[in-house]
Amino acid sequence: MFTVASILLVGGLAEGYWIGKKPENDHSVTRLEDIVVPLQYATEAVVNQGIEKISNIVGLDNISVSKGEIESHSGDPSGFVPPKVNERPYCVVFPSTVEQVSKIVKVCYELHIPVIPYSGGTSIEGHYVPTKKGISVDLSHMNKVLALHEDDLDVVVQPGIEWMQLNEELRPHGLMFGPDPAPGAMIGGIISTNASGTNAFKFGGAKDNVISLKVVLADGTIIKTKNRSRKSSNGYNLTNLFVGSEGTLGIVVEATLKLYALPKKEAIALMNFRNIGDATRTVTDLVKNGVSCNAIELMDDRQMRAVVEMGSGGSRKWEPYHLLLMKLGASSDSSLKEMVKSVKSIGKSNNGFNFDVATDEEERDNIWHVRKTLLWNSLNWAKKIKPMAHILPTDVCVPVSKLPELLSKVMEKMDKANLLATAAGHAGDGNVHVLVIYEPDQFETAHKLINEMSRIAIELDGTISGEHGIGVSDKRELLVEELGEDTIGTMRSIKFALDKRGIMNPDHIFKIDPTEKRRPYDDE
Ligand SMILES: Cc1cc2nc3c(=O)[nH]c(=O)nc-3n(C[C@H](O)[C@H](O)[C@H](O)COP(=O)(O)OP(=O)(O)OC[C@H]3O[C@@H](n4cnc5c(N)ncnc54)[C@H](O)[C@@H]3O)c2cc1C
Ligand SMILES: *[C@@H]1O[C@H](CO)[C@@H](O)[C@H](O)[C@H]1NC(C)=O
Ligand SMILES: *[C@@H]1O[C@H](CO)[C@@H](O)[C@H](O)[C@H]1NC(C)=O
Ligand SMILES: *[C@@H]1O[C@H](CO)[C@@H](O)[C@H](O)[C@H]1NC(C)=O
Ligand SMILES: *[C@@H]1O[C@H](CO)[C@@H](O)[C@H](O)[C@H]1NC(C)=O
Repeated sequence: MFTVASILLVGGLAEGYWIGKKPENDHSVTRLEDIVVPLQYATEAVVNQGIEKISNIVGLDNISVSKGEIESHSGDPSGFVPPKVNERPYCVVFPSTVEQVSKIVKVCYELHIPVIPYSGGTSIEGHYVPTKKGISVDLSHMNKVLALHEDDLDVVVQPGIEWMQLNEELRPHGLMFGPDPAPGAMIGGIISTNASGTNAFKFGGAKDNVISLKVVLADGTIIKTKNRSRKSSNGYNLTNLFVGSEGTLGIVVEATLKLYALPKKEAIALMNFRNIGDATRTVTDLVKNGVSCNAIELMDDRQMRAVVEMGSGGSRKWEPYHLLLMKLGASSDSSLKEMVKSVKSIGKSNNGFNFDVATDEEERDNIWHVRKTLLWNSLNWAKKIKPMAHILPTDVCVPVSKLPELLSKVMEKMDKANLLATAAGHAGDGNVHVLVIYEPDQFETAHKLINEMSRIAIELDGTISGEHGIGVSDKRELLVEELGEDTIGTMRSIKFALDKRGIMNPDHIFKIDPTEKRRPYDDE
């Protein structure tokens, strides 16, 4: 049980933060107003003692206080959710082993220093904004494959390996890892955000691809969630508890991941549509007819207009209509041909046109590049129209059949508010990223509309986050609307059961500080 006594053991704490659960409260659900026991984080003087201890663990070479490292570990470079002026870590630590991570966290636990895990830094909802300062633990030095079990189709890796690097190492073995989020994302971050990407339609997201984890808990204890066998009926699914937990429960220090055989033959089929409903009906018809695509991506007509007008699509002639990109994989040329035939006929029956198929590897890479770089392409396009333009990516997910309704409602609102917007997404999963383009004076309007879009997604039986996560943005409030106070309160109870001192990435996913005034977008 959490008691006041345990808090007062440490001297030199800063004033003002209220973290902890009322000792007499034994309800299942922890509401924000239940958190009334004052718990304070370490003052700078105490943090400095901690840093000295940590330097004895990792060596001075593996601690940085350089301005560059401090800035890059405070907020994502695109500034979608900028940190406030005081939201900077005291230092960035680069451990090399599980034991070092455990020892570092133990020091932070003893001194009440917040710990912010950091992998590739590509998350975009302010996931590693150090709201209570603290120490950033960067896992990127732990970037090795530890064991490859080809016969079992699994691999044991350290958390700081990039998914693209992992795939490089797997390719000679004819194997691949499923999830494909932003280039630069690392396994620890991918697991902690339950990330996915274009491949999720076939291979699932992070959740479907983690067999077992080794985790350092808030007090430094090292646990393994299970052994390597695929199946298990062995109590609580602790592996799943850490998937999508955004560093709020512990640090993932090792992961056993599922692998797949690389498709022997691949092709990308492309098709235009005038009507978005025709495009999504094509998606559902493909599924119903058992045509198993490895990915189905949608780029809307606004997005395609940006590609056409920017000439950013290479030598291929693109047209400004909704586009479906379908990645097809098969074991032989003949079965691939069969698939292409089915895709073409299903698309045509839904008024698809400009059907084409690319089998050559370079051509396929070029096409996929257009998809993977659309965020930057949309921004460059917007800057030609509105030179001061910024962009905000969004990430709602609805049942596939509701996608047309979602997009038409959202785009109508954008047009009315005079905001430019393009859309693209993982159509196979009903996961769409509307990119909202705004000028500085449209900042508030853009955020208001994005929140309205999230509410539309909830109404359509969907979610405010398909794959990016919650972080410290407005999505924390929206998550309460989506899941309800009691569900969030249950998450909060789990948080405090495992992290009584509230040191693990505080304030992320849901609030734990009733005195918090933070709105993500208003500056000091
Ligand atoms: C251009 C672009 C495209 C993107 N496309 C996609 C996409 O298609 N699909 C998708 O799912 N996402 C996408 N994202 C979002 C992003 O790539 C993912 O959220 C990714 O999983 C983040 O991984 P990371 O290693 O960069 O994590 P980070 O940004 O370093 O951290 C993410 C969160 O996880 C925590 N964390 C990091 N490492 C650990 C660890 N070892 N243990 C515990 N907690 C940890 C951090 O504290 C933080 O809360 C995109 C982002 C960009 C910028
Ligand atoms: C510092 O990090 C490097 C790279 O991971 C590692 O080789 C070295 O051993 C580390 N130093 C200590 C003292 O652990
Ligand atoms: C993780 O994502 C998968 C889809 O990729 C989804 O089915 C699952 O519910 C998500 N899990 C969590 C814990 O968010
Ligand atoms: C299985 O888990 C147990 C308990 O953690 C451990 O002792 C054992 O070594 C594990 N087996 C393997 C092969 O890792
Ligand atoms: C436990 O969770 C992991 C990771 O989310 C998942 O892959 C696995 O299928 C789950 N296992 C069971 C038995 O539900």
